[in-house]
Amino acid sequence: MNDNQLILTLFGATGDLAARKLYPAIYRLYKNNNISDKFAVIGTARREWTNEYFREIVYNSILEEITDEENAKEFVSHFYYQPHDVNDGEHYNKLKELSDTLDKQYNIGGNRIYYISLNPQLFPVITHHLSAQNVLTDNGYNRLIIEKPFGFDEESAIELQQQLTESFDENQIYRIDHYLGKELVSSLDKLRYNNIWSQLWSNEFIDNIQISLAEDMGISERGAYYDNSGVTKDMIQNHMMQILSILAMDNPKNASADGFRQEKINAIKSLRTFENTEDLTANVIRAQYTANTAEGIVGYKEEADIPADSQTETYFAAKFDFEMPRWEGVPFFVRSGKRLEGKYTTIHIVFKKDDPNVENNYLRIEFAPEMRIQFFFNQEKPGHKGGAKSVPMTFKYPTEVESEIPHDYERLINACINNQLDHFVHWYEAQYAWQFMDHIHNYWKQLDGQDMKYYKALSTGPVEADELMKAHHTKWYDCKDC
Ligand code: BG6
Repeated sequence: MNDNQLILTLFGATGDLAARKLYPAIYRLYKNNNISDKFAVIGTARREWTNEYFREIVYNSILEEITDEENAKEFVSHFYYQPHDVNDGEHYNKLKELSDTLDKQYNIGGNRIYYISLNPQLFPVITHHLSAQNVLTDNGYNRLIIEKPFGFDEESAIELQQQLTESFDENQIYRIDHYLGKELVSSLDKLRYNNIWSQLWSNEFIDNIQISLAEDMGISERGAYYDNSGVTKDMIQNHMMQILSILAMDNPKNASADGFRQEKINAIKSLRTFENTEDLTANVIRAQYTANTAEGIVGYKEEADIPADSQTETYFAAKFDFEMPRWEGVPFFVRSGKRLEGKYTTIHIVFKKDDPNVENNYLRIEFAPEMRIQFFFNQEKPGHKGGAKSVPMTFKYPTEVESEIPHDYERLINACINNQLDHFVHWYEAQYAWQFMDHIHNYWKQLDGQDMKYYKALSTGPVEADELMKAHHTKWYDCKDC
């Protein structure tokens, strides 16, 4: 039996993520023959939709991807809808009946993926019922995909993990971090282990490393969620930690997913924790955006659903240190925020220099606005005057190749089908990332907002973030020349 024949049961089938990302992703996998004809999708949610209506929704969500009408019609015929109340045990019996019927109809052989795209509070309710009511099969695989957030601090994450592992083993749990589905993130380790860069990947040659996850977008309609999260829970604990750990980890002991994830775990565990509030404020900046009236943008505290005295940070910048021999003395500067001057997602590896009169050589890995990799190096200026100038060597996929690159969710669903756990977050990665963030949050509680800084919406961020760099004799390598 092939792994790519399966029933995918989606909890949250009427949601926004499903229509925007998941159905197009599954369709791309289908049309490129990464899913076999022996597949079915069961969509569940509270609403009383029919199969016909569900198929119409799925069809509309893939319109832009359709290249062959017949193939698209065939694809949507594999979708089935079942109204479902996650708290009602009887509904799981119906789900099992439908799964068994479809399994026979498509000759699937027991493989199941359960994808929960609902409020995380419901994860354990669903997994409990799936196991207790024998929806899980014993003749194929049973895999669970869940969306972030995995808890909201270490304690809640531990509780959630305990609940989930009553029904699923750790190696059946696929925690999504959609950044791991991005082409350049998923190939980051390949780049690092290229024979040229791997030799330079340590404090012997690297001066500092910078990661910027900047967005011009605000909090949209998500005020209630965002005010409980702030950028640290929305972007740093997950996406930033993932990128950081892949950049900082030591060489895996073997080529398996376990070997890779173990080194990421070790790296996250090696982050130096701040000693006290002074140490924290010297290295960590939190800030909120204020209005930009000329652009018609209100400040964070004036946004819908945000309390006027909110102490939630919409911006975070920090200097992190890894207590690893490889990185002794190499600062990792990270920053992320909403309502900044643009959307740019970049990594800069800044190399050491021995001549104070030239720029540092640096490697830029850019996910957005463009997908490309550039190496900036010093080159003699042309002409009689001489002097050095930093010039880029650029790698970028041709447009026709770029358009074929799997989208985030397409890559991740495919990785789940193929049991590639290295594309997903291990429990210990989540746990240690929370442990690290919790200690920052605890200091923030003590500081009671005294350290909050401000920046104008659509600016480059708070001046204090630039001062942090100056204090370490460097600057943000930004995307102005991207
Ligand atoms: C999500 C956050 O996880 O990532 C959003 O919840 C954020 O607030 C988004 O906008 C950014 O993702 P990307 O892929 O656009 O960089």
